[in-house]
Amino acid sequence: MSSKPAQADKRSQTAPPSPSNGAQRCINYKCGAAFGLNDRIYVCPRCGETLEIEIPLNKTADPAAMREQWSSRAVFRAASADARDASGVWRYQEMLPFAADAPFVTLCEGHTPLFDAPRSAKYCGLAGLRLKHQGFNPTGSFKDTGMAAAMTQAVISGARTAVCASTGNTAASLAAYAARAGLQAAILLPRGQVSPSKLAQSLDYGALVLEIDGNFDACMRLVQELGDDPSIYVANSINPFRIEGQKTVAFEIMEQCRWRVPHHVIVPGGNMGNSTALGKGFQELLDLGLIDRLPKLSVIQAEGAAPLARLFATLDTKKSNVADQIPEKLEPIENPQTMATAIKIGAPISWKKSLRAVLRSGGQIISVSEGEIADAKAMIGRDSSGCEPASATTVAGIKRLVAAGTILINDDVVAVLTGHALKDPSYMISYHEGTLDFGHKEGGGDAPAPARAKETSAAQKAFAGEFRNAPERVAASKAAILSSLERKR
Ligand code: F0G
Repeated sequence: MSSKPAQADKRSQTAPPSPSNGAQRCINYKCGAAFGLNDRIYVCPRCGETLEIEIPLNKTADPAAMREQWSSRAVFRAASADARDASGVWRYQEMLPFAADAPFVTLCEGHTPLFDAPRSAKYCGLAGLRLKHQGFNPTGSFKDTGMAAAMTQAVISGARTAVCASTGNTAASLAAYAARAGLQAAILLPRGQVSPSKLAQSLDYGALVLEIDGNFDACMRLVQELGDDPSIYVANSINPFRIEGQKTVAFEIMEQCRWRVPHHVIVPGGNMGNSTALGKGFQELLDLGLIDRLPKLSVIQAEGAAPLARLFATLDTKKSNVADQIPEKLEPIENPQTMATAIKIGAPISWKKSLRAVLRSGGQIISVSEGEIADAKAMIGRDSSGCEPASATTVAGIKRLVAAGTILINDDVVAVLTGHALKDPSYMISYHEGTLDFGHKEGGGDAPAPARAKETSAAQKAFAGEFRNAPERVAASKAAILSSLERKR
């Protein structure tokens, strides 16, 4: 990696690391085996643990020159006609395990906004709060940054078909990026448990959608079996190239924070790829001297699908060595339940990497209730961006952490919103009409929100959200409309 200050297009002047310089390394510190970047493996062939990508970072590079290079590159590329230049992932090419002539796949992902959220801040008991909105990506979720990298590697590795298990967003993202890369996409979805908007995206992008009778965890097990087939490329976040793309969000946050490290970064937790990626991104910035400390990375799960929060509560976080704090096994939740369907996951695949990142940073892993998620989501809506239910765990979690004294009123806090509000409109309508029902059917075969809302029995009371805003039926006259406005002033 070069430390020379940039002139014009820094891409041509900065040699990215050649893939032969990097490795896929087993995260089990007792094993630590390393494999080639182009070996099509997703877990360590020796011990079965997950892998992460290790690239040789140039620790002698001048941090100030690197910062300047990235920001001037953003300005230069904004005016470029090359789609790759508009990507918020490939802008950080020298931090990624690809050669300069790699067949980069992009849909102009990244460059997402960091909003001030004064109403959500007040709701949480904070002086200020910023929302990094990953829902502004091409397919409306944070998955796109990782998918740009994963599909690039899929093309390099000669795969024909890319496969994922999904609660909906990975599916939509894979479908779009595989289409762009000219690959077949096959998607395993838990039947009846995915928001119609996400399903519609995957269908429209031309993916083969396979609806499985079972939950996300069952789909994930099947995908791992399919990964043995040489024609198939697994695109879930167990694939370490996904994590490489997603880690660029940490770089973007730091640029948007003008390199002042926030005290806390808060993310939702499902399969734990996102927290793993952010942790890796911040750690690499620290290793390069671009930041002088890590933000505390905290993960928030939904109460009915919180295996890692449950484990975290039992850990002795006082032990000095992080590796010693990480247990061998995570007790899965057999029948996870939440209306934040994106994170309805009982056996998160990247739990160890995520836990390591949280512990290193001094953060927390906690869970929040369905009602807390619903009200936090409506509050984020009032801040005029909105998000999907899973993303709102962040604001609900921050409120809890402020009440517990873990986050202080004047702390600088960034919450990562992972999905666009329109990913799950039926949840929103049900909330505002007062028909949102948290009652779950036994057996893990939940129907999507609208069907469930109609099935509300006398015993299952609909949730009376604090910020309900039901539509009003008004007579078709000026006087009726003015009187309605007056009542609401
Ligand atoms: N938020 C949203 C909107 C998601 O779609 C997901 C995961 C998460 C948070 C959790 O992120 O898994 O990296 O911890 N969605 C996956 C999917 C599982 O299939 O779309 P994570």
